[in-house]
Amino acid sequence: METKRWFVDIDKPMAKVIEEAASLIKGGGLVAFPTETVYGLGANGLDSQAVEKIFLAKGRPSDNPLILHIAQIQEAFFLASDISPQARILMERFWPGPLTLVLPSSKHIPARVTAGLNTVAIRMPNHPVALALIRQAGVAIAAPSANRSGYPSPTSANHVWEDLAGRIEGIIDGGATGLGLESTVLDMSGQVPLILRPGGVTREELASVLGEIQVDPGLKDWRTTPRSPGMKYVHYSPRAQVYLVEGAPTSLVPKLKKLLDDYTIQGKKVGLLFTEEMWRDLGQVKSAYHKDLGSRRDLGRIAHVIYDELRRCDQAGVDIILTETYQEEGLGAALMNRLLKSAGYRIVNF
Ligand code: TXA
Ligand code: MG
Repeated sequence: METKRWFVDIDKPMAKVIEEAASLIKGGGLVAFPTETVYGLGANGLDSQAVEKIFLAKGRPSDNPLILHIAQIQEAFFLASDISPQARILMERFWPGPLTLVLPSSKHIPARVTAGLNTVAIRMPNHPVALALIRQAGVAIAAPSANRSGYPSPTSANHVWEDLAGRIEGIIDGGATGLGLESTVLDMSGQVPLILRPGGVTREELASVLGEIQVDPGLKDWRTTPRSPGMKYVHYSPRAQVYLVEGAPTSLVPKLKKLLDDYTIQGKKVGLLFTEEMWRDLGQVKSAYHKDLGSRRDLGRIAHVIYDELRRCDQAGVDIILTETYQEEGLGAALMNRLLKSAGYRIVNF
């Protein structure tokens, strides 16, 4: 299949592109589009056969449900059978934005979308292209991140192209996404709100509205199965092996230098993704690829570039990627969740 690529400037009219892309979606095809978090791979969310194609194109495990994307709060009342007053408050407060709500599913949702669960995940993205596409298609758009399953999520149309060209009808190229990490998935179907996946809307922000809130214990403890099917798989992983390094600078720096020497002796190519502060401590070292991620204090910037940098390491042909750990506060919770998964939970404590 030939994959179309449309370029849009989000400050300029884009009606023609949106019309063409929406008609492909209405016709049962797959179109990737930018959101404020990562690129999504969209299909008509009420069409089982179209949704099935998402799983095939991505190589996605069939028990992993999809998020339905909407453009108006009203649409959630068609997709969910029960919306609590608290859920309604969250929609008003955080939509459009990087918050996905898991709610009891209505009878209109194909089992392919929910993977047979009795809940459905819904979000309203905060991106002009995504919103225009959903409105023009006139249906909820089912969209996972537009990467091959297991690989880091796409934050640019090039990433989508690398992973899915020839497997989908089209890609709307709206430039790099803003946030760079996925939405927070919050289960509002039980007694207490439960974070199933940390993301763009932080736990602290949610707690300020909800008061009581819990985090799925399965996210931290590998012996407990996560509640969200998508969180149990290897994910966000480049081909290279990722290790997270941490420790006080006085012990970390000499040990890290020794480790890099050992890798050189073994003929291993290494990629280094470190913050400004770490580079200051480390000074100059030899590596096949290196990047200054900026200050540790600017988690937003790190989140914005991290998936791209993991992919760049792969392009540089490195065998091993070393990167840092962060405090799990604010956006740091989402960043660490993704890094830990991409590293298969390997932390080297120096
Ligand atoms: O930012 C995002 O959320 C992006 C953009 C494209 O919107 N989408 C995204 O979709 O990250 P995906 O499919 O890569 O991740 C969706 C996550 C998965 O972990 C999935 O298991 C979970 O949401 N999920 C979906 N429906 C669910 C449900 N009914 N119950 C529990 N978890 C659910
Ligand atoms: Mg994904």
